[in-house]
Amino acid sequence: MNNSLLYGDNLPVMRERIATESVDIVYLDPPFKSDFDYNLLFKADGLKADEAQLTAFKDTWTWDAAAQTTYDELQNASNVTLINFVNALHGSLARTPMLAYLVNMAMRLIEIHRVLKPTGSAYLHCDPTASHYLKMLMDAVFLPTNFRSEIIWRRTGSHNRMKRWAPIHDVLLFYTKSDEYTWNSPRRPYMLGHVREHFIEGEDGTYKTDYYGNVLTGSGTRRGESGQPWRGFDPTAKGRHWAIPGKIWEEVGIDPKGLTQHQKLDLLFGKGFITITEGEAWPMYQLTISPSDGPAAPDIWAFQPYTEGTVFGTDLGIDADVRWLGTQDAERLGYPTQKPVGILKHIINASSRPGELVLDPFCGCGTTIAAAQMLARRWIGIDISPFAIELVRRQRLEGAFPHLKVGVDYEIKGLPTTLEGARMMAEAEDSGDRKAFEIWAVAKLDGIPNDKKGADKGVDGRIAFRPDGKTAKFAVVSVKSGKLKADDIRSLKAVAKREEASSLGFGVLVALYPPTTGMKADAASAGTVEMHGNRYPLVQILTVEDILKGKKPHLPLLDPTVGYRKKANLADIQGSLLRDE
Ligand SMILES: C[S@@+](CC[C@H](N)C(=O)[O-])C[C@H]1O[C@@H](n2cnc3c(N)ncnc32)[C@H](O)[C@@H]1O
Repeated sequence: MNNSLLYGDNLPVMRERIATESVDIVYLDPPFKSDFDYNLLFKADGLKADEAQLTAFKDTWTWDAAAQTTYDELQNASNVTLINFVNALHGSLARTPMLAYLVNMAMRLIEIHRVLKPTGSAYLHCDPTASHYLKMLMDAVFLPTNFRSEIIWRRTGSHNRMKRWAPIHDVLLFYTKSDEYTWNSPRRPYMLGHVREHFIEGEDGTYKTDYYGNVLTGSGTRRGESGQPWRGFDPTAKGRHWAIPGKIWEEVGIDPKGLTQHQKLDLLFGKGFITITEGEAWPMYQLTISPSDGPAAPDIWAFQPYTEGTVFGTDLGIDADVRWLGTQDAERLGYPTQKPVGILKHIINASSRPGELVLDPFCGCGTTIAAAQMLARRWIGIDISPFAIELVRRQRLEGAFPHLKVGVDYEIKGLPTTLEGARMMAEAEDSGDRKAFEIWAVAKLDGIPNDKKGADKGVDGRIAFRPDGKTAKFAVVSVKSGKLKADDIRSLKAVAKREEASSLGFGVLVALYPPTTGMKADAASAGTVEMHGNRYPLVQILTVEDILKGKKPHLPLLDPTVGYRKKANLADIQGSLLRDE
Protein backbone atom coordinates (compact mmCIF):
# COMPACT_ATOMS: atom_id res chain seq x y z
CA MET A 1 0.00 0.00 0.00
CA ASN A 2 1.19 3.54 -0.78
CA ASN A 3 1.77 6.24 1.80
CA SER A 4 -1.78 7.24 2.74
CA LEU A 5 -3.55 9.76 4.90
CA LEU A 6 -7.07 8.52 5.54
CA TYR A 7 -9.94 10.50 7.00
CA GLY A 8 -12.57 8.65 8.98
CA ASP A 9 -13.31 6.41 11.91
CA ASN A 10 -10.42 3.97 11.95
CA LEU A 11 -12.67 0.95 12.53
CA PRO A 12 -14.42 0.99 9.13
CA VAL A 13 -11.34 2.50 7.48
CA MET A 14 -9.11 -0.37 8.62
CA ARG A 15 -11.78 -2.91 7.70
CA GLU A 16 -12.32 -1.49 4.25
CA ARG A 17 -8.91 -0.29 3.23
CA ILE A 18 -6.15 -2.20 4.99
CA ALA A 19 -5.35 -5.72 3.89
CA THR A 20 -4.85 -8.56 6.37
CA GLU A 21 -1.19 -9.04 7.40
CA SER A 22 0.06 -6.06 5.40
CA VAL A 23 1.49 -3.79 8.13
CA ASP A 24 4.89 -4.14 9.83
CA ILE A 25 4.39 -1.89 12.84
CA VAL A 26 1.43 -0.12 14.44
CA TYR A 27 1.72 2.78 16.86
CA LEU A 28 -1.56 3.91 18.38
CA ASP A 29 -2.09 6.89 20.63
CA PRO A 30 -5.86 6.79 21.17
CA PRO A 31 -7.83 8.97 23.55
CA PHE A 32 -6.78 7.87 27.05
CA LYS A 33 -10.22 8.05 28.74
CA SER A 34 -9.24 11.34 30.29
CA ASP A 35 -12.85 12.61 30.65
CA PHE A 36 -11.75 15.72 28.84
CA ASP A 37 -12.43 17.20 25.41
CA TYR A 38 -9.33 18.61 23.76
CA ASN A 39 -9.42 22.03 22.17
CA LEU A 40 -7.25 23.51 19.50
CA LEU A 41 -6.37 27.11 20.11
CA PHE A 42 -5.28 29.28 17.21
CA LYS A 43 -3.17 32.12 18.49
CA ALA A 44 -2.97 35.35 16.55
CA ASP A 45 -2.98 39.02 17.48
CA GLY A 46 -6.46 40.34 17.01
CA LEU A 47 -8.21 37.03 17.68
CA LYS A 48 -10.00 36.46 20.96
CA ALA A 49 -9.71 33.02 22.53
CA ASP A 50 -13.39 32.17 21.95
CA GLU A 51 -13.11 33.17 18.29
CA ALA A 52 -10.32 30.77 17.60
CA GLN A 53 -10.95 27.44 19.18
CA LEU A 54 -12.10 24.16 17.94
CA THR A 55 -12.79 20.89 19.69
CA ALA A 56 -9.96 18.77 18.31
CA PHE A 57 -11.33 15.52 19.67
CA LYS A 58 -13.48 14.26 22.48
CA ASP A 59 -12.31 11.94 25.22
CA THR A 60 -15.48 11.79 27.27
CA TRP A 61 -17.40 8.55 27.27
CA THR A 62 -20.87 7.42 28.26
CA TRP A 63 -22.64 4.12 28.07
CA ASP A 64 -25.07 5.05 25.31
CA ALA A 65 -26.79 3.31 22.41
CA ALA A 66 -23.55 3.37 20.39
CA ALA A 67 -21.62 1.69 23.22
CA GLN A 68 -24.34 -0.96 23.56
CA THR A 69 -24.21 -1.62 19.78
CA THR A 70 -20.41 -1.98 19.92
CA TYR A 71 -20.72 -4.32 22.88
CA ASP A 72 -23.30 -6.44 21.03
CA GLU A 73 -21.14 -6.49 17.90
CA LEU A 74 -18.17 -7.63 19.93
CA GLN A 75 -20.11 -10.77 20.91
CA ASN A 76 -19.70 -11.94 17.29
CA ALA A 77 -15.89 -11.63 17.33
CA SER A 78 -13.99 -14.83 16.62
CA ASN A 79 -11.73 -14.30 19.65
CA VAL A 80 -13.57 -16.11 22.44
CA THR A 81 -11.00 -15.10 25.09
CA LEU A 82 -11.65 -11.46 24.30
CA ILE A 83 -15.43 -11.91 24.44
CA ASN A 84 -15.17 -13.70 27.79
CA PHE A 85 -12.89 -11.01 29.15
CA VAL A 86 -15.12 -8.14 28.01
CA ASN A 87 -18.16 -9.93 29.41
CA ALA A 88 -16.35 -10.36 32.72
CA LEU A 89 -15.60 -6.65 32.68
CA HIS A 90 -19.27 -6.02 31.99
CA GLY A 91 -19.99 -8.00 35.15
CA SER A 92 -17.71 -5.84 37.28
CA LEU A 93 -17.63 -2.42 35.64
CA ALA A 94 -21.27 -2.58 34.49
CA ARG A 95 -22.46 -0.05 31.93
CA THR A 96 -19.97 2.62 32.85
CA PRO A 97 -18.04 5.16 30.78
CA MET A 98 -14.92 2.99 31.31
CA LEU A 99 -16.60 -0.02 29.73
CA ALA A 100 -17.85 2.17 26.85
CA TYR A 101 -14.23 3.20 26.26
CA LEU A 102 -12.90 -0.35 26.52
CA VAL A 103 -15.39 -1.94 24.10
CA ASN A 104 -14.57 0.84 21.63
CA MET A 105 -10.87 0.01 21.99
CA ALA A 106 -11.41 -3.76 21.87
CA MET A 107 -13.01 -3.55 18.42
CA ARG A 108 -10.06 -1.56 17.11
CA LEU A 109 -7.45 -3.85 18.65
CA ILE A 110 -9.00 -6.77 16.77
CA GLU A 111 -8.48 -4.91 13.49
CA ILE A 112 -4.94 -3.86 14.43
CA HIS A 113 -4.08 -7.48 15.12
CA ARG A 114 -5.61 -8.54 11.79
CA VAL A 115 -3.66 -6.04 9.67
CA LEU A 116 -0.29 -6.77 11.33
CA LYS A 117 2.08 -9.16 9.58
CA PRO A 118 3.03 -12.24 11.64
CA THR A 119 6.41 -10.56 12.19
CA GLY A 120 4.79 -7.25 13.18
CA SER A 121 4.85 -5.18 16.38
CA ALA A 122 2.23 -3.00 18.06
CA TYR A 123 2.87 -0.12 20.47
CA LEU A 124 -0.17 1.12 22.40
CA HIS A 125 0.38 4.53 24.01
CA CYS A 126 -1.85 5.18 27.00
CA ASP A 127 -1.64 6.38 30.57
CA PRO A 128 -2.36 4.93 34.02
CA THR A 129 -6.07 5.83 33.79
CA ALA A 130 -6.81 2.74 31.72
CA SER A 131 -3.44 1.07 31.04
CA HIS A 132 -4.27 -1.83 33.37
CA TYR A 133 -7.47 -2.68 31.48
CA LEU A 134 -5.87 -2.05 28.09
CA LYS A 135 -3.03 -4.43 28.90
CA MET A 136 -5.56 -7.16 29.61
CA LEU A 137 -7.34 -6.40 26.32
CA MET A 138 -3.98 -6.59 24.54
CA ASP A 139 -3.28 -9.91 26.29
CA ALA A 140 -6.61 -11.22 25.03
CA VAL A 141 -5.98 -10.05 21.46
CA PHE A 142 -2.21 -10.66 21.12
CA LEU A 143 -1.72 -13.41 23.77
CA PRO A 144 0.11 -12.80 27.06
CA THR A 145 3.19 -14.58 25.67
CA ASN A 146 3.53 -11.88 23.02
CA PHE A 147 3.76 -9.10 25.58
CA ARG A 148 7.29 -7.69 25.29
CA SER A 149 7.63 -4.43 27.24
CA GLU A 150 5.85 -1.80 29.24
CA ILE A 151 7.67 1.43 28.46
CA ILE A 152 7.43 4.31 30.88
CA TRP A 153 7.78 7.64 29.11
CA ARG A 154 8.22 10.82 31.09
CA ARG A 155 5.72 13.12 29.45
CA THR A 156 6.19 16.33 31.40
CA GLY A 157 8.39 18.15 33.83
CA SER A 158 5.63 20.02 35.59
CA HIS A 159 4.28 18.91 38.89
CA ASN A 160 0.80 19.86 39.95
CA ARG A 161 0.10 20.30 43.58
CA MET A 162 -2.04 17.33 44.38
CA LYS A 163 -2.39 14.93 47.23
CA ARG A 164 -0.47 12.13 45.53
CA TRP A 165 2.79 11.47 43.65
CA ALA A 166 2.92 13.88 40.75
CA PRO A 167 1.73 12.01 37.65
CA ILE A 168 4.41 12.59 35.01
CA HIS A 169 4.50 9.43 32.92
CA ASP A 170 2.69 7.72 30.08
CA VAL A 171 2.72 4.00 29.41
CA LEU A 172 3.51 2.31 26.10
CA LEU A 173 2.56 -1.34 25.81
CA PHE A 174 4.67 -3.22 23.30
CA TYR A 175 3.32 -6.48 21.90
CA THR A 176 4.34 -8.56 18.91
CA LYS A 177 2.18 -10.82 16.84
CA SER A 178 4.49 -13.82 17.26
CA ASP A 179 7.95 -14.83 18.49
CA GLU A 180 9.46 -13.98 15.13
CA TYR A 181 9.60 -10.21 15.07
CA THR A 182 11.95 -7.48 13.96
CA TRP A 183 14.17 -6.23 16.77
CA ASN A 184 17.16 -4.08 15.91
CA SER A 185 18.66 -4.31 19.41
CA PRO A 186 18.72 -0.60 20.19
CA ARG A 187 21.31 0.65 22.68
CA ARG A 188 21.65 3.76 24.79
CA PRO A 189 24.87 5.63 25.46
CA TYR A 190 26.80 5.01 28.68
CA MET A 191 26.77 7.57 31.43
CA LEU A 192 30.02 9.46 31.58
CA GLY A 193 30.45 8.65 35.31
CA HIS A 194 30.16 4.93 34.57
CA VAL A 195 32.79 5.14 31.84
CA ARG A 196 35.17 7.06 34.12
CA GLU A 197 34.74 4.52 36.88
CA HIS A 198 35.04 1.31 34.88
CA PHE A 199 37.11 2.13 31.81
CA ILE A 200 40.54 3.46 31.02
CA GLU A 201 41.01 5.77 28.08
CA GLY A 202 43.33 4.30 25.45
CA GLU A 203 45.57 6.30 23.18
CA ASP A 204 43.43 5.41 20.15
CA GLY A 205 40.41 7.23 21.64
CA THR A 206 38.71 4.01 22.78
CA TYR A 207 38.00 3.02 26.36
CA LYS A 208 38.87 -0.34 27.86
CA THR A 209 37.52 -2.05 30.97
CA ASP A 210 39.74 -1.83 33.98
CA TYR A 211 39.11 -5.22 35.58
CA TYR A 212 41.59 -7.33 37.52
CA GLY A 213 42.70 -10.64 35.98
CA ASN A 214 40.52 -13.02 38.02
CA VAL A 215 37.23 -11.15 37.48
CA LEU A 216 35.74 -14.22 35.77
CA THR A 217 36.09 -16.31 38.94
CA GLY A 218 34.84 -16.32 42.50
CA SER A 219 36.69 -17.40 45.63
CA GLY A 220 36.42 -21.00 46.87
CA THR A 221 36.32 -24.27 44.96
CA ARG A 222 33.25 -26.00 43.47
CA ARG A 223 32.59 -29.56 42.42
CA GLY A 224 30.48 -28.98 39.28
CA GLU A 225 31.41 -27.56 35.90
CA SER A 226 32.32 -24.22 37.46
CA GLY A 227 35.24 -25.96 39.16
CA GLN A 228 36.46 -27.68 35.98
CA PRO A 229 39.32 -26.39 33.80
CA TRP A 230 38.37 -24.25 30.79
CA ARG A 231 40.80 -23.84 27.87
CA GLY A 232 43.71 -24.94 30.01
CA PHE A 233 42.89 -22.75 33.04
CA ASP A 234 42.05 -24.69 36.20
CA PRO A 235 40.26 -22.51 38.79
CA THR A 236 40.27 -25.25 41.45
CA ALA A 237 44.08 -25.31 41.41
CA LYS A 238 43.97 -21.66 42.53
CA GLY A 239 41.24 -22.16 45.10
CA ARG A 240 38.59 -20.49 42.92
CA HIS A 241 35.68 -21.34 40.55
CA TRP A 242 34.21 -19.83 37.35
CA ALA A 243 31.64 -17.08 38.18
CA ILE A 244 30.95 -14.30 35.71
CA PRO A 245 29.57 -11.18 37.45
CA GLY A 246 26.18 -9.84 36.40
CA LYS A 247 27.63 -6.45 35.59
CA ILE A 248 29.69 -8.02 32.79
CA TRP A 249 26.49 -9.31 31.16
CA GLU A 250 24.97 -5.89 31.56
CA GLU A 251 28.03 -4.34 29.99
CA VAL A 252 28.06 -6.62 26.96
CA GLY A 253 24.26 -6.51 26.63
CA ILE A 254 23.77 -10.31 26.57
CA ASP A 255 21.30 -12.39 28.58
CA PRO A 256 23.15 -15.65 29.46
CA LYS A 257 20.06 -17.37 30.90
CA GLY A 258 20.15 -21.16 30.61
CA LEU A 259 23.87 -21.46 29.83
CA THR A 260 26.39 -23.45 31.91
CA GLN A 261 29.53 -21.72 33.19
CA HIS A 262 31.69 -23.14 30.39
CA GLN A 263 29.07 -22.19 27.76
CA LYS A 264 29.04 -18.65 29.15
CA LEU A 265 32.83 -18.45 28.90
CA ASP A 266 32.67 -19.82 25.33
CA LEU A 267 30.08 -17.20 24.44
CA LEU A 268 32.16 -14.31 25.77
CA PHE A 269 35.27 -15.76 24.12
CA GLY A 270 33.44 -16.16 20.78
CA LYS A 271 32.31 -12.55 20.89
CA GLY A 272 35.85 -11.34 21.53
CA PHE A 273 35.34 -10.26 25.14
CA ILE A 274 37.88 -12.75 26.51
CA THR A 275 41.49 -12.88 25.39
CA ILE A 276 43.94 -15.65 26.23
CA THR A 277 47.57 -14.63 26.30
CA GLU A 278 50.41 -17.07 26.89
CA GLY A 279 52.01 -16.62 30.26
CA GLU A 280 48.94 -14.87 31.81
CA ALA A 281 47.56 -16.49 34.96
CA TRP A 282 43.92 -16.03 33.85
CA PRO A 283 41.92 -15.52 30.67
CA MET A 284 41.37 -11.76 30.46
CA TYR A 285 37.93 -10.21 30.16
CA GLN A 286 38.06 -6.92 28.37
CA LEU A 287 35.43 -4.72 26.79
CA THR A 288 36.53 -1.91 24.55
CA ILE A 289 33.97 0.80 24.03
CA SER A 290 33.72 3.88 21.88
CA PRO A 291 31.16 6.68 22.24
CA SER A 292 28.85 4.91 19.78
CA ASP A 293 28.45 1.86 22.06
CA GLY A 294 26.13 1.46 24.99
CA PRO A 295 24.03 -0.97 26.99
CA ALA A 296 20.71 -2.38 25.74
CA ALA A 297 18.05 0.36 25.62
CA PRO A 298 15.87 0.13 28.75
CA ASP A 299 12.11 0.45 29.13
CA ILE A 300 12.22 3.77 30.97
CA TRP A 301 12.51 6.80 28.72
CA ALA A 302 12.86 9.76 30.98
CA PHE A 303 14.36 13.00 29.81
CA GLN A 304 16.26 14.69 32.62
CA PRO A 305 16.69 18.40 32.11
CA TYR A 306 20.01 19.95 33.09
CA THR A 307 22.00 16.75 32.62
CA GLU A 308 23.91 17.94 29.56
CA GLY A 309 27.52 16.79 29.75
CA THR A 310 26.74 13.66 31.78
CA VAL A 311 26.16 11.29 28.87
CA PHE A 312 29.23 9.64 27.30
CA GLY A 313 29.94 10.71 23.74
CA THR A 314 27.25 13.37 23.35
CA ASP A 315 26.54 16.94 24.41
CA LEU A 316 22.89 16.06 25.01
CA GLY A 317 21.42 15.28 28.41
CA ILE A 318 19.80 12.04 29.52
CA ASP A 319 17.13 10.88 27.05
CA ALA A 320 17.12 14.29 25.35
CA ASP A 321 15.91 12.69 22.14
CA VAL A 322 12.62 11.68 23.79
CA ARG A 323 12.11 14.88 25.69
CA TRP A 324 8.54 16.11 26.12
CA LEU A 325 7.42 19.08 24.07
CA GLY A 326 7.43 22.39 25.90
CA THR A 327 4.66 24.84 25.04
CA GLN A 328 6.95 26.82 22.76
CA ASP A 329 8.78 23.82 21.35
CA ALA A 330 9.91 24.18 17.72
CA GLU A 331 8.22 20.87 16.96
CA ARG A 332 4.80 21.96 18.18
CA LEU A 333 1.99 22.37 15.67
CA GLY A 334 -0.61 23.41 18.23
CA TYR A 335 -2.47 20.08 18.12
CA PRO A 336 -3.38 18.93 21.63
CA THR A 337 -1.69 15.74 22.84
CA GLN A 338 0.95 16.00 20.11
CA LYS A 339 3.78 13.54 20.83
CA PRO A 340 7.46 14.21 20.12
CA VAL A 341 8.87 12.79 16.90
CA GLY A 342 11.73 11.37 19.04
CA ILE A 343 9.60 8.67 20.65
CA LEU A 344 8.30 7.58 17.27
CA LYS A 345 11.83 7.46 15.90
CA HIS A 346 12.83 5.19 18.79
CA ILE A 347 9.95 2.82 18.14
CA ILE A 348 10.27 2.71 14.38
CA ASN A 349 14.06 2.31 14.51
CA ALA A 350 13.82 -0.54 17.02
CA SER A 351 10.99 -2.54 15.47
CA SER A 352 11.09 -2.07 11.70
CA ARG A 353 13.37 -1.82 8.69
CA PRO A 354 13.57 0.81 5.96
CA GLY A 355 10.84 0.39 3.36
CA GLU A 356 8.47 -1.33 5.80
CA LEU A 357 4.93 -0.13 6.48
CA VAL A 358 4.00 1.85 9.62
CA LEU A 359 0.35 2.39 10.60
CA ASP A 360 -1.00 4.99 13.02
CA PRO A 361 -4.79 4.63 13.26
CA PHE A 362 -5.12 7.67 15.60
CA CYS A 363 -2.59 9.85 13.82
CA GLY A 364 -3.59 13.32 15.14
CA CYS A 365 -1.23 15.87 13.69
CA GLY A 366 0.93 13.22 12.07
CA THR A 367 3.91 12.70 14.40
CA THR A 368 4.21 9.07 13.28
CA ILE A 369 4.01 10.09 9.63
CA ALA A 370 6.87 12.57 10.09
CA ALA A 371 9.07 9.98 11.85
CA ALA A 372 8.27 7.25 9.31
CA GLN A 373 9.03 9.59 6.43
CA MET A 374 12.33 10.68 8.04
CA LEU A 375 13.35 7.04 8.52
CA ALA A 376 12.40 5.97 4.96
CA ARG A 377 9.48 3.78 6.02
CA ARG A 378 6.12 3.72 4.23
CA TRP A 379 3.20 5.00 6.28
CA ILE A 380 -0.57 5.11 6.75
CA GLY A 381 -2.20 7.65 9.07
CA ILE A 382 -5.91 7.63 9.94
CA ASP A 383 -7.85 10.25 11.88
CA ILE A 384 -11.52 10.98 12.48
CA SER A 385 -10.93 14.72 12.58
CA PRO A 386 -10.97 16.49 9.19
CA PHE A 387 -8.94 19.26 10.73
CA ALA A 388 -6.20 16.84 11.84
CA ILE A 389 -5.99 15.45 8.29
CA GLU A 390 -5.79 18.97 6.81
CA LEU A 391 -3.16 19.91 9.41
CA VAL A 392 -1.03 16.90 8.51
CA ARG A 393 -1.39 17.78 4.82
CA ARG A 394 -0.37 21.39 5.16
CA GLN A 395 2.09 21.40 8.08
CA ARG A 396 3.62 17.95 8.11
CA LEU A 397 3.64 17.04 4.46
CA GLU A 398 3.53 20.19 2.30
CA GLY A 399 5.32 22.15 5.05
CA ALA A 400 8.07 19.78 6.15
CA PHE A 401 8.51 17.56 3.07
CA PRO A 402 7.71 19.88 0.15
CA HIS A 403 9.32 17.51 -2.35
CA LEU A 404 6.56 14.95 -1.70
CA LYS A 405 3.66 15.24 -4.12
CA VAL A 406 0.10 14.25 -3.33
CA GLY A 407 -1.09 11.68 -5.86
CA VAL A 408 2.50 10.61 -6.52
CA ASP A 409 4.26 10.08 -3.19
CA TYR A 410 1.15 9.80 -1.04
CA GLU A 411 -2.60 9.86 -1.25
CA ILE A 412 -5.28 11.49 0.87
CA LYS A 413 -8.54 9.54 1.04
CA GLY A 414 -11.89 10.13 2.69
CA LEU A 415 -12.05 13.92 2.48
CA PRO A 416 -14.08 15.23 -0.43
CA THR A 417 -12.38 15.63 -3.78
CA THR A 418 -15.67 15.92 -5.69
CA LEU A 419 -18.88 17.82 -5.13
CA GLU A 420 -20.65 14.51 -4.67
CA GLY A 421 -18.14 13.59 -1.95
CA ALA A 422 -18.66 16.94 -0.22
CA ARG A 423 -22.44 16.41 -0.23
CA MET A 424 -22.02 12.95 1.27
CA MET A 425 -19.85 14.40 4.01
CA ALA A 426 -22.28 17.25 4.73
CA GLU A 427 -25.22 14.86 4.87
CA ALA A 428 -23.41 12.39 7.13
CA GLU A 429 -22.62 15.29 9.39
CA ASP A 430 -26.34 16.07 9.73
CA SER A 431 -26.82 12.88 11.69
CA GLY A 432 -23.76 13.27 13.93
CA ASP A 433 -22.55 15.84 16.41
CA ARG A 434 -19.44 16.84 14.51
CA LYS A 435 -19.21 19.86 12.29
CA ALA A 436 -16.91 17.89 10.06
CA PHE A 437 -18.01 19.44 6.78
CA GLU A 438 -17.78 23.06 7.98
CA ILE A 439 -14.40 22.44 9.58
CA TRP A 440 -13.12 20.80 6.41
CA ALA A 441 -14.35 23.70 4.23
CA VAL A 442 -12.72 26.35 6.44
CA ALA A 443 -9.45 24.38 6.72
CA LYS A 444 -9.42 23.92 2.93
CA LEU A 445 -9.46 27.72 2.62
CA ASP A 446 -6.47 27.86 5.04
CA GLY A 447 -8.83 29.53 7.51
CA ILE A 448 -9.22 29.19 11.24
CA PRO A 449 -12.28 27.06 12.04
CA ASN A 450 -14.50 27.85 15.00
CA ASP A 451 -16.95 25.75 16.96
CA LYS A 452 -19.53 28.52 17.25
CA LYS A 453 -19.26 28.48 21.00
CA GLY A 454 -20.88 31.15 23.12
CA ALA A 455 -21.58 34.43 21.40
CA ASP A 456 -19.88 33.44 18.18
CA LYS A 457 -23.01 32.12 16.48
CA GLY A 458 -23.07 32.44 12.71
CA VAL A 459 -19.30 32.30 12.34
CA ASP A 460 -17.80 28.99 11.21
CA GLY A 461 -14.33 30.38 10.87
CA ARG A 462 -12.13 33.30 9.91
CA ILE A 463 -9.70 33.91 7.09
CA ALA A 464 -6.70 36.11 7.80
CA PHE A 465 -5.38 38.88 5.57
CA ARG A 466 -2.98 41.76 6.16
CA PRO A 467 -4.28 44.75 4.23
CA ASP A 468 -1.39 46.99 5.36
CA GLY A 469 1.13 44.18 5.13
CA LYS A 470 1.39 44.11 8.94
CA THR A 471 -1.69 43.82 11.12
CA ALA A 472 -3.85 40.73 10.63
CA LYS A 473 -7.55 41.21 9.91
CA PHE A 474 -10.12 38.43 9.68
CA ALA A 475 -12.90 37.93 7.15
CA VAL A 476 -15.74 36.01 8.77
CA VAL A 477 -16.73 32.73 7.12
CA SER A 478 -20.13 31.13 7.13
CA VAL A 479 -20.45 27.61 5.70
CA LYS A 480 -23.85 26.49 4.44
CA SER A 481 -24.24 22.77 3.99
CA GLY A 482 -27.95 22.89 3.11
CA LYS A 483 -29.92 24.75 0.45
CA LEU A 484 -29.23 28.49 0.70
CA LYS A 485 -31.89 30.68 2.28
CA ALA A 486 -32.72 34.23 1.34
CA ASP A 487 -31.43 35.71 4.56
CA ASP A 488 -28.08 33.81 4.61
CA ILE A 489 -26.34 36.72 2.87
CA ARG A 490 -28.07 39.25 5.09
CA SER A 491 -26.97 37.46 8.26
CA LEU A 492 -23.39 37.23 7.00
CA LYS A 493 -23.35 40.96 6.22
CA ALA A 494 -24.66 41.66 9.72
CA VAL A 495 -21.94 39.51 11.38
CA ALA A 496 -19.18 41.06 9.24
CA LYS A 497 -20.53 44.47 10.20
CA ARG A 498 -20.70 43.53 13.89
CA GLU A 499 -17.03 42.53 13.71
CA GLU A 500 -16.05 45.42 11.47
CA ALA A 501 -13.05 46.34 13.63
CA SER A 502 -11.41 43.05 12.83
CA SER A 503 -13.17 41.99 9.61
CA LEU A 504 -13.18 45.40 7.86
CA GLY A 505 -16.67 44.25 6.83
CA PHE A 506 -15.45 41.25 4.79
CA GLY A 507 -17.55 38.11 4.83
CA VAL A 508 -17.24 34.85 2.89
CA LEU A 509 -20.16 32.50 2.34
CA VAL A 510 -19.18 28.94 1.45
CA ALA A 511 -22.09 27.25 -0.28
CA LEU A 512 -22.56 23.58 -1.00
CA TYR A 513 -25.50 24.35 -3.30
CA PRO A 514 -25.24 27.06 -5.99
CA PRO A 515 -26.55 30.54 -5.04
CA THR A 516 -29.51 32.02 -6.90
CA THR A 517 -29.10 35.11 -9.08
CA GLY A 518 -30.91 37.08 -6.39
CA MET A 519 -28.38 36.03 -3.77
CA LYS A 520 -25.47 36.94 -5.95
CA ALA A 521 -27.04 40.35 -6.43
CA ASP A 522 -27.61 40.59 -2.70
CA ALA A 523 -23.91 39.84 -2.08
CA ALA A 524 -22.82 42.35 -4.71
CA SER A 525 -24.99 45.03 -3.09
CA ALA A 526 -22.63 44.97 -0.07
CA GLY A 527 -20.21 46.89 -2.26
CA THR A 528 -16.46 46.76 -2.71
CA VAL A 529 -13.40 48.24 -1.08
CA GLU A 530 -10.46 49.60 -3.03
CA MET A 531 -6.97 48.74 -1.78
CA HIS A 532 -3.60 48.59 -3.47
CA GLY A 533 -5.25 49.47 -6.78
CA ASN A 534 -7.68 46.49 -6.63
CA ARG A 535 -11.37 46.25 -5.84
CA TYR A 536 -12.36 43.66 -3.27
CA PRO A 537 -16.03 42.66 -2.86
CA LEU A 538 -17.04 42.84 0.80
CA VAL A 539 -19.30 39.81 0.61
CA GLN A 540 -18.11 36.92 -1.49
CA ILE A 541 -19.70 33.58 -2.26
CA LEU A 542 -17.49 30.58 -2.88
CA THR A 543 -19.11 27.32 -3.86
CA VAL A 544 -17.67 24.01 -2.75
CA GLU A 545 -16.82 23.38 -6.40
CA ASP A 546 -14.69 26.57 -6.30
CA ILE A 547 -12.96 25.35 -3.14
CA LEU A 548 -12.25 21.96 -4.66
CA LYS A 549 -10.58 23.73 -7.58
CA GLY A 550 -8.33 25.54 -5.09
CA LYS A 551 -10.01 28.94 -5.38
CA LYS A 552 -9.43 31.28 -2.43
CA PRO A 553 -11.40 34.40 -1.44
CA HIS A 554 -10.28 37.67 -2.97
CA LEU A 555 -8.86 39.53 0.04
CA PRO A 556 -6.06 42.08 0.26
CA LEU A 557 -2.86 40.21 1.13
CA LEU A 558 -4.31 36.89 2.23
CA ASP A 559 -2.09 35.30 4.88
CA PRO A 560 -2.70 31.55 5.32
CA THR A 561 -0.09 31.25 8.08
CA VAL A 562 -1.90 33.32 10.70
CA GLY A 563 -3.07 31.27 13.68
CA TYR A 564 -1.02 28.24 12.66
CA ARG A 565 2.28 27.33 14.17
CA LYS A 566 5.07 27.41 11.68
CA LYS A 567 5.70 24.05 10.06
CA ALA A 568 7.33 21.51 12.38
CA ASN A 569 10.98 22.31 12.32
CA LEU A 570 12.37 18.84 11.89
CA ALA A 571 15.93 20.14 11.73
CA ASP A 572 15.55 21.24 15.35
CA ILE A 573 14.65 17.78 16.54
CA GLN A 574 17.45 16.43 18.69
CA GLY A 575 19.73 13.84 17.14
CA SER A 576 18.96 10.30 18.14
CA LEU A 577 20.78 8.87 21.12
CA LEU A 578 19.67 5.42 20.07
CA ARG A 579 22.21 3.28 18.33
CA ASP A 580 21.40 0.26 16.22
CA GLU A 581 23.56 -2.73 16.96
C1 LIG B 1 -4.17 11.46 21.39
S1 LIG B 1 -4.54 12.04 19.81
C2 LIG B 1 -3.20 11.50 18.83
C3 LIG B 1 -2.07 12.48 18.82
C4 LIG B 1 -0.94 12.06 17.90
N1 LIG B 1 -0.19 10.94 18.44
C5 LIG B 1 0.00 13.22 17.64
O1 LIG B 1 1.19 13.15 18.00
O2 LIG B 1 -0.47 14.21 17.09
C6 LIG B 1 -5.84 10.98 19.36
C7 LIG B 1 -6.36 11.21 17.96
O3 LIG B 1 -7.26 10.15 17.66
C8 LIG B 1 -8.30 10.66 16.86
N2 LIG B 1 -9.41 9.72 16.97
C9 LIG B 1 -10.23 9.52 18.02
N3 LIG B 1 -11.11 8.53 17.75
C10 LIG B 1 -10.82 8.09 16.50
C11 LIG B 1 -11.36 7.07 15.67
N4 LIG B 1 -12.39 6.32 16.06
N5 LIG B 1 -10.84 6.91 14.44
C12 LIG B 1 -9.79 7.67 14.02
N6 LIG B 1 -9.24 8.64 14.78
C13 LIG B 1 -9.74 8.84 16.00
C14 LIG B 1 -8.55 12.05 17.39
O4 LIG B 1 -9.16 12.88 16.42
C15 LIG B 1 -7.13 12.50 17.74
O5 LIG B 1 -6.56 13.23 16.69
